[in-house]
Amino acid sequence: MNLRFNDYPEAFTQLKQDPQLLPLAIEEVLRYRSPVQAMARFTQVETQLHGQTIPAGKMVTVWIGAANRDEAQFEHAEVFMIDRDPNPHLAFGNGIHFCLGALLARLEAKIVLSAVLERLPNLRIVPNKKLEFISSIEVHGIKYLPVLF
Ligand code: HEM
Repeated sequence: MNLRFNDYPEAFTQLKQDPQLLPLAIEEVLRYRSPVQAMARFTQVETQLHGQTIPAGKMVTVWIGAANRDEAQFEHAEVFMIDRDPNPHLAFGNGIHFCLGALLARLEAKIVLSAVLERLPNLRIVPNKKLEFISSIEVHGIKYLPVLF
């Protein structure tokens, strides 16, 4: 979360002035920096998708990260907007396997970030620190986040 706000300090200021925006801001972070970038699915029947024929029984990698930057779904998809509404992102998946922990993850983020906004208003990433990303195609995130406050 802080990664985005470090890049967009004006968004952090906006959030401190109007903490009611926090739930929308959390959804935008989930869209913009989707922690799960890809999921696998198997076709049960032959499937047509954008002019491609996928035979039955094939594994398909569904790119959540790409879907969440789809211009056909999100206006100015490359822009991080903390008040984006509606925000139909797929960060928690879709359908019967929709993330069971989505409510808990959203609640935890809201509790922690409310406390951060209130108690650490000058929170920032240590300047010039090279951040190390988790080495994975499917999971997007950093190994640790050194901060100052
Ligand atoms: C930001 C945090 C999280 C993200 C981005 C996330 C994302 C996802 C995604 C993309 C899926 C696959 C959905 C699909 O196949 O359509 C999933 C499934 C699942 N998640 Fe999460 N998750 C998060 C947190 C959690 C937490 C905190 C828990 C448990 C406490 C949890 C439990 C599960 C379970 C059990 C499934 C499998 C559901 C099924 O197959 O029916 N997740 N999650």
